[in-house]
Parts: sequence; C-alpha cells; structure tokens
Amino acid sequence: MLGLMERMARYGDGACIQASFGPIFLFNHPDAVREILQTKPECFVKSRALEFAKMLLGEGLLTSEDPFHRRQRALMQPAFHHKRVKSYAASMTHYAAQMRDEWKNGQVVDMHHEMMALTLSIVGKTLFNSDVGEEAHVVERAMNAVMPLFNRAFLPWGALLNRLPLPATRRFHRAKADLDATIARIIAEHKTSGDVGDLVSMLLLARDEDGAPMSDAQVRDEALTIFLAGHETTANALTYTWHLLAQNPEAEAKLHSEIDAVLADRDATLEDVENLPYTQMVFAEAMRLYPPAWALGRRAIQDCEIFGYPIPKGAIVLVSQWTLHRDARFWSEPLQFNPERFTEENKASRPKFAYFPFGSGPRTCIGESFAAMEGALLIATLAQKWRAISLTTQPLKLQPLITLRPRDAVMMRLERR
Ligand code: HEM
Repeated sequence: MLGLMERMARYGDGACIQASFGPIFLFNHPDAVREILQTKPECFVKSRALEFAKMLLGEGLLTSEDPFHRRQRALMQPAFHHKRVKSYAASMTHYAAQMRDEWKNGQVVDMHHEMMALTLSIVGKTLFNSDVGEEAHVVERAMNAVMPLFNRAFLPWGALLNRLPLPATRRFHRAKADLDATIARIIAEHKTSGDVGDLVSMLLLARDEDGAPMSDAQVRDEALTIFLAGHETTANALTYTWHLLAQNPEAEAKLHSEIDAVLADRDATLEDVENLPYTQMVFAEAMRLYPPAWALGRRAIQDCEIFGYPIPKGAIVLVSQWTLHRDARFWSEPLQFNPERFTEENKASRPKFAYFPFGSGPRTCIGESFAAMEGALLIATLAQKWRAISLTTQPLKLQPLITLRPRDAVMMRLERR
C-alpha cells in the first residue's frame, strides 16, 4: 500500500485509479489536504477501512458519522480539554519511570513491545482508572487479530469474506469477545464506584442538550475506541523515535543534553514539557518520517470539486501522510532525520498541511495534546537513563494496516547512559 501511494504520487498532485468499487483519487498537495479535511468535510464520510472498523468499534467517535458524531464529539471534548489532559502527566511519568528503573543494562528488548505495554498502561490508568497490566496480552492479541481484517477493506469481496467462518474471522470474533469483556468489567466497576474523574466516569455522567445519557452500548463503543486509538498510534511513534535516534547520534546527543540540563536526576513533570522543545521536535520529526496514521480516506457523498478536479459522488479520496511528509517540494533532504525542521521559524516557512500526523478539521484527532505530552514525557523519562542500540542495520520493514506498524520485532540493546 505504501508503494502504491508512492507510485500514485509520482503522477502529480492528483491521480486516480479505477477500482472495482469505483474511482480512487490520491491527492498529494497540502491545499488538497486542507480542502478535504478542513474546508469541505461536508462532502465526505469516512471510507472503507473505517467502515470496516465498525465491526469492532461500533459507533464510536472514530467511526461514526454526523449528526451523531457531532453530538458525541461535543460530549467527549471536555475529557480531552488541555486542562484535563494536563492532569494525566503524573501518571505518564509514573509508568515511564517504572519502566526506566526496571530496564537492565545490556538487556535486549523488542522496543515495539515495550512501547505498546507502556502506552497501554497509561491509557488504562489515565482514561479508565484501571490497571490493565494483567490484561495487556488480551488487548495485544485482539489487536493482532483485528488488524489483518482491515486489509480486506481494499478487496472488492472483503465484506463477503468477513461473513465467512474463516480462521482469521473466527480469531477476530474471539478476540472481540475478550476485549468486550475487559471493557464491560471496567464500565461495571465504574458504575459501582461512582465518579473517579477519568474518561469512563465522564462518559457515564455526560448528558446531551435534552439531558439524555449515553446508552451502555455507546459508552462501550467510545471507551473501546479510545482504548485502541489511544495507545497503538503513540506506541508506534515512540518505537520509530528510538529507531531513528539510534541511527542519528548527533540528534541523540542533543536530546540527551537537553534532558540532562532540564531534569538532571529528577522525574519529569508537566511544567518541564515546555522546557523540552528539542524532545518535542524529535517526536514530531519521527512522526514525519513514520506517520502512525499513514493515509486518510474519505468517500464522497455528493459531487464536489477538490483541488480543481471534479469528484463524483461515491468516489474514494485519499491523502497520505506517508507521501506528503516525504515530499521534496516541502522538505529538503526528506529522508534525513532532522528535528530542527520543527523550530517555529522552519514550521512557518512551509505550507501548514505538508504535515498532518493528527489529521485536521472536524475529524481531527481528539487525543492530539494527550499524545504530544505523552511523547515528550516518555522520551524524556526513558532517555534520561538509557540509549537504545539497534541490533540490525536493515531498514525497518513496515506494515501499513490501520496504523503504520513495524512488521517485525524491533530488537534493541539497552545501554545505561
Ligand atoms: C501519535 C499519536 C496519535 C496519532 C498519530 C493519531 C492520529 C489520528 C488521526 C490522523 C486521526 C484522524 C482520522 C481521520 O481523520 O480519519 C485521529 C482521530 C482520532 N484519535 Fe488519534 N492519534 C494519536 C493519538 C491518539 C490518542 C492518545 C487518543 C486518545 C486518547 C486518540 C483518539 C482519537 C479519536 C477518538 C479519534 C477520532 C476523532 C473524531 O473523529 O472525532 N488518538 N487520530
């Protein structure tokens, strides 16, 4: 799929292929990204991959459509307000410091596995006030079972395959049942314990304009959506950060000196984040080269015009972070890892929508400030004591499923600084 995106991008700013289910347009220009995501969102709904995701996520925020989506977004926004997100910082540092203090010198780890475990604990604690440590394997197994099904979204007969009792489909249903049980337990505990100030409490307390609460099924869909959307993306971005730092000793040294100057030996706090600009830039640059969301798709629900091209109702339009984040028109030496690209001055010198790891417009990532803060705090806390050495000189092999995952284990040796 990444190769297909790259080949289509070579045809220019707008390219089209004819699939069995209709035309697919790829737009490879920041102005088109702005139009599709920000200025003309009413022309589109989410496209096939996310329609497939409804099998798991139901009518959660990621998969639902207006007007229902608008109502849910308004109900959930307060839980992601930056003031509230700030209160999660202590848990982020707590879990990262625990990992930092447990790692052993010379230990070889699968960095992707480590980062998944870490972000899972954090999303569990901050949003569900639950220690999901012991259930981490349930979630990991479920994600592994679910991801391959998304590939079927690109097949004309994908929906049919999902109805057949194939081994992968059966694995999916078993994994879904396990995940549902985990979420149901968390919701039931909250109903007896009352408001504990986390996301599930807010979902249970939320009332729309008519004073109506969400149904239990809706709380389940929203909770599961956040549970899944809230950890895999960040874990991928952190894994790529470690990989890139290992290949780029100069950037790594600069990162270390910033962390040492700001933190020395004490644990990071929320107040430190603004004093760690280089750490934030490292995270942003890792998401440029390896965007966890590698393409966004929409289906036109009316005839419209994008970037001067007529788009017929029913067509799929795609914009790809993978191609635009590596486009030499907007990024000099695009394959080089260079965090300095994210100084305020450099950001102002290129089109805003050349970089859109979190999307934009009414469907923009609700967890952006959560993820940005988590990225900075986790990198600072772990890199305070550790560097990770790559055990392979091969380029990372990638798996572009619903998120851009590393295909294999990312084996690294830990070295105490
Ligand atoms: C590095 C980390 C992350 C990246 C790169 C990322 C990326 C994205 C992108 C690109 C979208 C838009 C999808 C579209 O337009 O089709 C999105 C939506 C969403 N993200 Fe994130 N995300 C990250 C972290 C998080 C976190 C930490 C949470 C929750 C705690 C979260 C929850 C969501 C939800 C609920 C949506 C759907 C929003 C809506 O449609 O109203 N994400 N994310």
